[in-house]
Amino acid sequence: MSNLLAKANWMEREDIRPYVFVRPENEIAYPGSFHRLDWFKKTPIVKAPLSLNELAFADRIYSLEERAFGPADMAMPRWVFYDCAVMPGFVAGFAAKPSALTPEIRKALDPKKFPARQSPIHTSGVLKEVQSLDEMDWVPLSLFIIIPTMHKGEWVAHNLCSINSLVPKEEQLYGLGFLSKAFGLWYANVEQCSGMTQWGSPALKLHSHYGHLEVIGAYAPVHSHAKTITYRVQVNTKCWEKFFNKQPDLAFLENYGPTDKSIDPTSEKSMFEFQQRIERNEGPFFLSAGEIAQKNLDEKLTIYSQKQQY
Ligand SMILES: CC(C)(COP(=O)(O)OP(=O)(O)OC[C@H]1O[C@@H](n2cnc3c(N)ncnc32)[C@H](O)[C@@H]1OP(=O)(O)O)[C@@H](O)C(=O)NCCC(=O)NCCS
Repeated sequence: MSNLLAKANWMEREDIRPYVFVRPENEIAYPGSFHRLDWFKKTPIVKAPLSLNELAFADRIYSLEERAFGPADMAMPRWVFYDCAVMPGFVAGFAAKPSALTPEIRKALDPKKFPARQSPIHTSGVLKEVQSLDEMDWVPLSLFIIIPTMHKGEWVAHNLCSINSLVPKEEQLYGLGFLSKAFGLWYANVEQCSGMTQWGSPALKLHSHYGHLEVIGAYAPVHSHAKTITYRVQVNTKCWEKFFNKQPDLAFLENYGPTDKSIDPTSEKSMFEFQQRIERNEGPFFLSAGEIAQKNLDEKLTIYSQKQQY
């Protein structure tokens, strides 16, 4: 394993493993065969989302997701997970043995609402309401949902969430969110990845490190949160290590130059103007991962464009 992962040495623990929650028909034929990378050597745990035996695993994914996204009013309804995530795509992430869970982590994995699900089988007592963590073999600590699109080679990153956002700093597993998405992209041989996040979200610090980030939408009133950035990256594992070592991305600086414009993640007007420039085909426009990493979440970001090709 690359020594760049020294900051994430939990990756070497035996009681934490990558997982894929995928229906057998959607399984990747040759996982991890496209991107050259030696980060993910452990055999992932594979679980089938449509199997009743794995209901507890799905329930804990929901608990984690609901706590992480609830405050932003974006918790995922169960039908969205079923219809739009596990049927067309799959979920990847890291899971731990119950013995590895600290009291804080256990608290973060507790469902907020009861009953989390409604079904006649459950009410007749055949299925227990929520299986206890200690009865599970593996417990999810993060989730990354990715869905293939009609555009060949392009996938949509639909959801990313890690337990780090719910536990005190000293209990966090550095890089858990970043490595969950990295693992999913690597495992599924994803060449192009699009995604959506809200301006000012810490997630942009992660999303900008999987390849040079093109902004394909700067304002999205079609979404329930209009202040959403829509991006696309050509997945490039050379960018990934920079998340850990904070080295400048020379290839980015060589290919893209700053425009005289910036985007203010606190201003809807700024988003709207940026969106208009995109729609006038003045782009393509990019953001710099190095700049995003250095800045506070509410600071203005420089808009980059491709340098003149001679
Ligand atoms: C956003 C999220 C996925 C990040 O995952 P994570 O496991 O917390 O983050 P990682 O350990 O992989 O990455 C750590 C880096 O992100 C930064 N980061 C994470 N949360 C942050 C926050 N709230 N504010 C500022 N930076 C933050 C860290 O400072 C660190 O950067 P550094 O190396 O420069 O110090 C996670 O916080 C989360 O689940 N949030 C709630 C749900 C959400 O908003 N998801 C994103 C939707 S697209």
